Amino acid sequence: MTNPSTSLREAADPAFRIGAAVHGSEHHKDAMPLVHEQRYRDVLAAEFSSLTPENQLKWSWLRPAPGEYDFAASDAIVEFAQQHGQHVRGHTLFWHNQNPQWLIDGTYSDEELRTQLREHVQTVVSRYAGRIQQWDVVNEIIDDDGTLRTERNLWIAQLGPQIIDDVFHWAHEADPTAVLFGNDYSVEKIGTKSDAWYDLCQGLLQRGVPIHGFGLQAHLDLAHDHPDDLQENLQRFADLGLRTAITELDIRGQVDADGKLSDADTAEQARRYGLVVDAARQTPGCDSFTFWGVRDEQSWIPQAFPGTGAALLFNGDFEPKPAHAVVRESLSSPAD
Ligand code: XIL
Repeated sequence: MTNPSTSLREAADPAFRIGAAVHGSEHHKDAMPLVHEQRYRDVLAAEFSSLTPENQLKWSWLRPAPGEYDFAASDAIVEFAQQHGQHVRGHTLFWHNQNPQWLIDGTYSDEELRTQLREHVQTVVSRYAGRIQQWDVVNEIIDDDGTLRTERNLWIAQLGPQIIDDVFHWAHEADPTAVLFGNDYSVEKIGTKSDAWYDLCQGLLQRGVPIHGFGLQAHLDLAHDHPDDLQENLQRFADLGLRTAITELDIRGQVDADGKLSDADTAEQARRYGLVVDAARQTPGCDSFTFWGVRDEQSWIPQAFPGTGAALLFNGDFEPKPAHAVVRESLSSPAD
């Protein structure tokens, strides 16, 4: 047993980065606890060795108007990470969601739209070159039926699938040291969607596109079966020569009026958290492991999936939940 005061970061091999999404809600743009909550800063620094801006690097946050960038929040996160010896995962350059209205409403020729994207990628990635170690270059580009998300992704809709290759090339040129990922949800199991990603990655690699990793968001739900073949799935991407990462882990369940899980679900949640850690640690090249937030009260889950919640490792005044102890033990046990 590790000492209960041991943090996740202390329990883990230093090369296995334990991350958290840094809260900053799209709906409350000024709610950046990193900036005005000392306790939040302390926990973030003590428990985690990697940070992902939850919203602050998305187009909708960064790009208030054409040609303008608002780096205040992302700069604060990257500076905090540097001060505390943490890595940063950049999220995300290319997505169908959270694009600014001016971009959605704009009418652009193909060349103009390509230029918008190229300039964005060059500007953002080069600003943080050497300070953001991993980028989710493309996010959620495969639909649940395994086809490319063509219509809903404004870039692919107008510019065609070739733009996916371009965006990786531009990111690589802007920071040749950054590890570049594709990232998606519902890809934890072997199945239609993860198979489509496997094929996509194979094609990109064959064409010499600089993709280096595949990120599995892992927004899991106690009401669904646990993805028991997670390790096997991670392994097949590793066998392609890719890094893998658990990028947005949370495990939600049905909550009562106080936002709490039943005792049985709390225990089951802890068990499942441990399984995800074990699968990641057993896979060579899977060394970036991120929770999508710190405490239940700040998680995106209750809003996105009403009736569910309590998906993270801490609650209240940063009280560690049973899952925290299980994750800590899994991290400190000898790897297979
Ligand atoms: C979520 C944020 O957590 C929310 O604050 C925001 O309102 C919507 O986006 N997949 C992703 C993340 O790649 O960017 C999403 O984050 C959660 C699902």
